[in-house]
Amino acid sequence: MTEAMNGQEYILFATKLAREAGKIALEGRKEKIVSYQFKSSHKDLVTEIDRQVERFIVAKIKETYPSHGILGEEGTNIDGGGNSSYRWVIDPIDGTTNFIHQGINFCVSIALYQGGEGVAGVVYDPSRDELFSGERGKGAFLNGSPIGFTGEKKMDESLIGTNLIWVGRTRRLKLEESIYRLANVSRGVRSLGAAALELAYVAAGRLDAYLGLYLSPWDYGAGKLIVEEAGGKVSNFDGDSLSLISEKQGLLASHPSIHGDLLQFLKRE
Ligand code: IPD
Ligand code: CA
Ligand code: CA
Repeated sequence: MTEAMNGQEYILFATKLAREAGKIALEGRKEKIVSYQFKSSHKDLVTEIDRQVERFIVAKIKETYPSHGILGEEGTNIDGGGNSSYRWVIDPIDGTTNFIHQGINFCVSIALYQGGEGVAGVVYDPSRDELFSGERGKGAFLNGSPIGFTGEKKMDESLIGTNLIWVGRTRRLKLEESIYRLANVSRGVRSLGAAALELAYVAAGRLDAYLGLYLSPWDYGAGKLIVEEAGGKVSNFDGDSLSLISEKQGLLASHPSIHGDLLQFLKRE
């Protein structure tokens, strides 16, 4: 089977899987009080539904692609073995705090990488039935319709998404000043609390940029590919391309015309 055919097969598989996983999350949300546990801090939550959705996704991938590796937020780290360089990167529920408190603004994120290159990425918001997808070389889509960037954007007409406001590391990296200045020079700053969804919103033009600090591969694996396939730019805060490493890192995704301006803002004095 050719690479092109594979790409299409993978996006179809990931789309079906994300929809099924999203259905499980929606069912779980029906409980009036979703019980949760803490992970690293009082802000880092996990529910039984996160684990259940991850188990479901992992089982389906193993069944269909037994030689592929899988990395998941809730503890999955499978080296597929064999000669395969394919690795699935999954966040069963991105926006767990929103899932618990709001019942909306969360998503399932599933990506396939080969070496360091994204092959297919899907971000599914089950509460709105919105599925964002990107396939290498084929473009980005929202519920099957193409999405992408048009025209030029200026900073003063841009809406910026970020998680920098509540990440303690912002202070340690002395980025606080930049964020305040950013709020002034842009049209506004938003914080949704689900990085994968915010990246998908950049691709769909609902946000003009997203700045995330301390993100893990499962937070941005699918969203990065979707933004790039929509024609946007994704880099670290130094403007370098982002490798899918397991360490937490900063990410800037944006409309191509404001990426340079945003990097200037992030320059550490
Ligand atoms: C978190 C969300 C949040 C971001 C955090 C992530 P989770 O993922 O994407 O917006 O600021 O860095 O860890 O824990 O809800 O999957
Ligand atoms: Ca996440
Ligand atoms: Ca998660």
